Amino acid sequence: MLNNLGAEFQDILKEKFSGKIFEIISQVSDEMHLECYAIGGYVRDIFLHRPSKDIDVVTVGKGIELAQAVAKKLGRGAHLSVFKNFGTAQIKYKHTEIEFVGARRESYQRDSRKPIVEDGTLEDDQNRRDFTINALAICLNKDRFGELLDPFGGLKDLEDLIIRTPLDPDITFSDDPLRMLRAIRFSSQLGFDIEAETFDAISRNKDRIEIISKERIIDELNKIVLSPKPSVGFLQLDQTGLLPIIFPELVALKGAETKEGVGHKDNFYHTLVVLDNIAKKTDNLWLRWSAILHDIAKPATKRWDDKQGWTFHNHNFIGERMIPGIFRRMKLPLNEKMKYVQKMVTLHMRPQSLVDDSTSDSAVRRLLFEAGDDIDDLMTLCEADITSKNQEKVKRNLRNFEIVRGKLKEIEEKDHVRNFQPPIDGAEIMEIFGLIPGPEVGRLKSSIKDAILDGVIPNEYGAAYTYLLDKAKKIGLEPKNK
Ligand code: CTP
Repeated sequence: MLNNLGAEFQDILKEKFSGKIFEIISQVSDEMHLECYAIGGYVRDIFLHRPSKDIDVVTVGKGIELAQAVAKKLGRGAHLSVFKNFGTAQIKYKHTEIEFVGARRESYQRDSRKPIVEDGTLEDDQNRRDFTINALAICLNKDRFGELLDPFGGLKDLEDLIIRTPLDPDITFSDDPLRMLRAIRFSSQLGFDIEAETFDAISRNKDRIEIISKERIIDELNKIVLSPKPSVGFLQLDQTGLLPIIFPELVALKGAETKEGVGHKDNFYHTLVVLDNIAKKTDNLWLRWSAILHDIAKPATKRWDDKQGWTFHNHNFIGERMIPGIFRRMKLPLNEKMKYVQKMVTLHMRPQSLVDDSTSDSAVRRLLFEAGDDIDDLMTLCEADITSKNQEKVKRNLRNFEIVRGKLKEIEEKDHVRNFQPPIDGAEIMEIFGLIPGPEVGRLKSSIKDAILDGVIPNEYGAAYTYLLDKAKKIGLEPKNK
């Protein structure tokens, strides 16, 4: 029985709640005389026609016992984990994860995330959820199967594209301050508006975000970064005052100073346009982070020069050096992903310098060598970095980058330097001259690399060997076995 929803959803619900898992949950909860509901994101996503992931199931009482009985009935292939401390249990079955919990009343103490939890009714459980759209529940018991329980008008908010808390937002956010970021994340991800009272409460409670772990914060921030138009989320973070707390370096980009009638662009808004531009081209989180950070050192490097006006010399290199500190503080990974972002930031000015007609092949080869396999990503970043309002200028710049892409392709096809390793490595240099490891070996190795990139010699063993002997001779080295 799908009793209080329009016909259009009945088929969808039937399909979503068909299959062995739901049949068993329904049957077992009836046998145990437990009210049982699907709730939260899974239900919300059904109405949004989004692919649903994990299923949250709430029962009135005995969540763990229900999970144990369901797992038993599902038999082989069902993996049960019980989290006694949290009063929850999880079943992994094929590709589905189902989280079971008994309905709860929860309240939090002011300075702690540790809730005081008591058993409660379904309505208590819905009350303590973050947003009306996440508080929708659908009954799974046989005689009420498919009944929607929507005490806060979540369905209407889904239709009107509104994020609103079920209770007074000051209470909902105080219970779990991460929800302030979640509100902005859902708004950015789903294209919803945050209802005015809810929005004001975020501004009022922003400082409470300090009690939330960096790991939870970055999970939400990354979802904002990955949303279709990330500036929506970042502007709301800024307007509510959360941004200076979680990402002060980005806020420092704000402002456009004018001196002697010469201004520079506001690098905060510029960065957000670059981020939106790149979001249209890629879902690569780290390329999106490169867009966020490409000009991050502009405030630190800004100078006024009487001849040149505003300058930001070396902002790419200084930006590269700022990244580890930012990543460490924000609990972003300090691994090859960070190195990739650093590489993008360091190199983001280089393709522009190749636009000139007189660019040498050697400059193109050097960029190919330094960017390696990430050269296409770098070009995507440079194209996103064009944010002029003058459409003619945008077209001209894009055409220029098209030409640069052509040059890169042509030189790569000719010289294969993208992932090249010099044909003679350090070990061989030591062997040839009977050297022990030391700076001399490194210098000789680099001289071969430079000669190839500069087009002095071809990328071939014989030429490299002759070149090496010549170089070595100049510093008084002779091969061991002549
Ligand atoms: N929830 C909450 N407060 C939080 C986190 C979660 O009230 N800080 C509730 C919401 O009802 C939410 C459900 O727990 O729908 C499941 O949370 P989660 O899996 O984190 O998020 P989803 O809403 O499913 O969204 P997504 O999968 O996009 O993260």
